[in-house]
Amino acid sequence: MKKIVLPAIVALMVIFSLFLLPYLLPKKKFQLYSDSDLRKIALSRNMLPIPSTYKELLKVINNTKNPLTKDKILLGKQLFFDTALSKDRTISCATCHILNSGGDDDRPTAIGYLGQKNPKHLNSPTVLNAALAKAQFWDGRAKDVEEQAGGPIQAHFEMNLTQNEAIKRVKHNPYYVSMFNKIFPAGITFINITKAIGAYERTLLTRSNYDKFLEGNNSALSDKAKKGFGLFINLGCKGCHTGMSVGGQSIQKFPLRKCASVYDLQCMLSNQKFPFENVGGFLGKDNQQKFRVPILRNIAKTSPYFHNGAVKKLEDAVKIMGRHQIGIELTKEQTSDIVAFLKSLNGEIVDYNISVKK
Ligand code: HEC
Ligand code: HEC
Repeated sequence: MKKIVLPAIVALMVIFSLFLLPYLLPKKKFQLYSDSDLRKIALSRNMLPIPSTYKELLKVINNTKNPLTKDKILLGKQLFFDTALSKDRTISCATCHILNSGGDDDRPTAIGYLGQKNPKHLNSPTVLNAALAKAQFWDGRAKDVEEQAGGPIQAHFEMNLTQNEAIKRVKHNPYYVSMFNKIFPAGITFINITKAIGAYERTLLTRSNYDKFLEGNNSALSDKAKKGFGLFINLGCKGCHTGMSVGGQSIQKFPLRKCASVYDLQCMLSNQKFPFENVGGFLGKDNQQKFRVPILRNIAKTSPYFHNGAVKKLEDAVKIMGRHQIGIELTKEQTSDIVAFLKSLNGEIVDYNISVKK
């Protein structure tokens, strides 16, 4: 009997101390950066300001297969707002991507032709700065904005036109006929419709206080936003939400970990696959819970959040990211600092003085 008691006590003590370990270890200190360090680190990680001139824009956004011209951008703009591209002539791209309201529709899920909801309950992402992303859609299945634009016109639950119907509608408008003939050697084709829309989308970039800070203006961000920016870098949010668009550069697993820590028994014992009810059942790329990392520019204007619009408050979305992508429970203060930083990404569409004619 005695032979068992001692090892049992030792084993219990080992297990007990394992549970205490995370409380006994020194807490990781989060570094506070000076303004210039913050800027230097961000710029060195490719978190760059949005160009303020058309000349600079062309360097970052031009597509050699669809070169930007003034006429093409103008034509794309008309098409973006034209309800003739939907079967019942009531829906345009701008119906679900409201440009002065964050570039999305503020609904949990998109509503298209005949009031149909997106069959996978997908949330409309913003079109603002989308051209900077390396892939389009929640699962990254389209390579650029040109390829993307063909999707919603044909989707039966969005605009519901066949390619031929779309061409017929466009040909019906004499203004379009002359513009297409002037811009494209092949005139009106479905591909050229998507090229014109894509060209316009390449100009839908927004600049904000964050850009001014990156360009050297220390007072463009509040101290709170700077603290949040430091946390965003320090905690590793920028590992996924990076690049000029602060996102859109890679496809990542979500949730990466079930719980912030294996010591959170309540969380560990629950059998939830998603940190929220998985409305719509969409599982991303290859059904592997992999999603194109969302663009965080203008994020404070694009509630509700996540691919299925299941989370309303930005604070909650940030806390979910901390728990499931980083593996920490963010404090109230950390969360509100990060939210202050994210708000500094709210911008205005740049009015580029487009100088390339034709
Ligand atoms: C009925 C609402 C609706 C309409 C109309 C609509 N969209 Fe969308 N848009 C969505 C939804 C929902 C998604 C996400 C779909 C997905 O990931 O499968 C999306 C995705 C996008 C994306 C990808 C953004 C990113 O960051 O991945 C772009 C760009 C876009 N739409 C542009 C357009 C254009 C251009 C048109 C018009 C030709 C258009 N949309 C019409 C709802 C709509
Ligand atoms: C490992 C990669 C990764 C890390 C690290 C990460 N995220 Fe995310 N983030 C994602 C992915 C993927 C999604 C989309 C998930 C979905 O919609 O299902 C997302 C979604 C979001 C959203 C909602 C976006 C929208 O348009 O609905 C916010 C806000 C966000 N992340 C902020 C943060 C913050 C703040 C941090 C750091 C605390 C962070 N993320 C860390 C990958 C990451």
